[in-house]
Amino acid sequence: MKRVLTGIKPTGYAHIGNYFGAIKPAIELSKHDDYECFYFIADYHALTTLNSKAEMKEYFYNIACTWLACGLDPKKVVFYRQSDIKEDFELNWILCNVTPKGLMNRAHAYKACVEKNEANGLDRDDKVNMGLYNYPILMSADIMLFDADYVPVGLDQKQHIEIARDIAHNFNIKYGETLKEPMEYIDENNNTLVGLDGRKMSKSYNNTIRLFGDENELKKAIFRVVTDSRLPGEPKDVDCTVNKLYKLFVSESEAKEFEEDLLKGLGWGDAKKRLFEVANRYLSPMREKFNYYMAHKKEVDAILDAGAEKARIVARKVLRRVRKAIGAE
Ligand code: ADP
Ligand code: TRP
Repeated sequence: MKRVLTGIKPTGYAHIGNYFGAIKPAIELSKHDDYECFYFIADYHALTTLNSKAEMKEYFYNIACTWLACGLDPKKVVFYRQSDIKEDFELNWILCNVTPKGLMNRAHAYKACVEKNEANGLDRDDKVNMGLYNYPILMSADIMLFDADYVPVGLDQKQHIEIARDIAHNFNIKYGETLKEPMEYIDENNNTLVGLDGRKMSKSYNNTIRLFGDENELKKAIFRVVTDSRLPGEPKDVDCTVNKLYKLFVSESEAKEFEEDLLKGLGWGDAKKRLFEVANRYLSPMREKFNYYMAHKKEVDAILDAGAEKARIVARKVLRRVRKAIGAE
């Protein structure tokens, strides 16, 4: 049996890009009997960007309840909170010592900050904290602590998995074969979802459609999708954002029908109304579950506590192996 592991950091409200790009495929994977899945909320990774305790609590439960509402079955998936697994932070420290500093200098999130600072004439490390700098090492520990074979992630995370492999390799060269070298699992068909403005949907661009806002919020977001100035009656470009979003929520035949209507000149207002209807139809049952969990956070905590118990059994075993390898036991 292969082990699959992934995490999402609670740095904002889950959006439909996260759902179609990460959550839905991970849940589908967990239904296969050949995989044993470990999914977690990377709360300590979120510390690099969060500004307050209130934000942490808000986003943490938003992500936790989202996973559950979208169908994660805690009986099949080991579902836990990163910060509950103290072994992770011990492994993190050990891994720091087989990680060349230069490897962290090349990590994309840190590099992007440096480049932005330089472009703005600031000190290259302005506002860079060590949490951001060491981010890929903690992520490596998250993965190696559970002997994960596959890590489902979006393309933007590929470099982090390559770094994890390098770190595991360095460790194994120095201390002998101890850590499993993980592989990224990137669904090539899973294209990056576009946001309201046509760029990648992302919290950082403020162009997201929140997964479980209320109906009104969903409607408002959909009406903000940027369109061109073609009038009702004029054929529309089927490559438009409205059509790309519509396809996510419907069967192939419904998608075809919508596309034909766009070509026949369906007006943007009516097109968006129809997009709202199908999105709402798709999301409503999950939204109900989401609202249930948000109103029963103790239940969510209990699920995560039970997940952490199970996760720790594996984590302790692996850490023991690592401690023995370095001579700490
Ligand atoms: P954001 O870009 O909004 O900050 P995150 O970086 O927290 O999102 O991503 C969490 C997960 O969702 C990752 O696995 C990422 O690859 C996936 N994801 C985020 N945005 C999209 C998108 N627009 N399309 C597909 N997948 C996405
Ligand atoms: N860095 C990932 C992201 O930004 C989140 C994450 C943290 C993660 N630890 C992980 C993903 C371990 C996969 C495996 O999306």
